[in-house]
Amino acid sequence: MVDFEIRPSPLPASPAQRAAALAAPGFGQVFTDHMVTLRWSAGSGWHDGRLEPYGPFTLDPATAVFHYGQEIFEGMKAYRQAGGSIALFRPEANAARFNRSARRMAMPEIDEETFLHALELLVTQDGAWVPEGIGNSLYLRPMMIATQRGLGFTHPSDSYLFCVIACPATAYFGAAPRALTVWLSEEYTRAAPGGTGFAKAGGNYGGAFVAGRLAAERGCDQVVWLDSAERRWVEEMGGMNMFFVYAPAGARPRLMTPALTGTLLPGITRDSVLTLAALLGFDAEEGRISTDQWREECASGALTEAFACGTAAVMASIGTVRGVDGQWRIGAGLPGPVTGRLRDELLGIQYGTRPDPFGWVH
Ligand code: COI
Repeated sequence: MVDFEIRPSPLPASPAQRAAALAAPGFGQVFTDHMVTLRWSAGSGWHDGRLEPYGPFTLDPATAVFHYGQEIFEGMKAYRQAGGSIALFRPEANAARFNRSARRMAMPEIDEETFLHALELLVTQDGAWVPEGIGNSLYLRPMMIATQRGLGFTHPSDSYLFCVIACPATAYFGAAPRALTVWLSEEYTRAAPGGTGFAKAGGNYGGAFVAGRLAAERGCDQVVWLDSAERRWVEEMGGMNMFFVYAPAGARPRLMTPALTGTLLPGITRDSVLTLAALLGFDAEEGRISTDQWREECASGALTEAFACGTAAVMASIGTVRGVDGQWRIGAGLPGPVTGRLRDELLGIQYGTRPDPFGWVH
């Protein structure tokens, strides 16, 4: 594991400033007093680990990341437990995914111990920034950028910067639970086989804004990505995975989520929901669903709920689906009971109000 030098901020926010920031933090707007940085150079590996005051970087305009987008990131949260302590949720899974993203983007991997230590250092130092209350958390954003100077495109960067920042966060889609309206993107796609879809690379998100904007112009909250070949199979939503729920009255609920074909982001919330569904006695499987099937199964009443899930958004119900051929409602178009049960169970484990039979809490 790499050693980190601790350089506390000489000017941390006062308790009053922090309380004001925590009163209405939104998402990704207010940052804590510190950040963790770590450098990598060819030949030396990882070095110069630091916990230091949060602040801007100075980078040459010819730095590789600005031109060729070699950047990856992670998203995870620290949760204030009822007794006051702080827990992370499955951070080992984030470390593993970060390294899978790194391999795809020809970037260096970080050993799990160093990755976890960087998170622990920041959360411990800035622990006062972890808000109380279910639904509130400290969102952690580890990331890595290519820092070699020069425009040559003959080889990946020979130096990198790893950094972790943190921001207090409230509910991603607003405090009151509501069902989202989503837009089926037939014009733009997110990822193609053999591409970077499974990696948490900044470019996947940069390329998504145009479709998100189109969705907003159509009165929708989010875009639903379809497969790039046929524009028919549902893949994921905005920056989140999707689940479809089949729970007609009296039946044992069945959940289906699109299988990880290489074009989808392998969500840690997605994986946790698959496991939790079994714990609650629901059937859960990975599969595929076309947009025609989605519409028909809503019309017949077989498909009763759909939801999106991710670290930032947790679990968000989808109420209405809109596309170039018209729109339809899912169930009553409102947050559904199966989604609610899974959400309560997941939040219960994350906030320590329910037992954690899987050893997910760190
Ligand atoms: C997350 O859910 O943590 C993400 O990375 C999604 C991001 C677009 C906010």
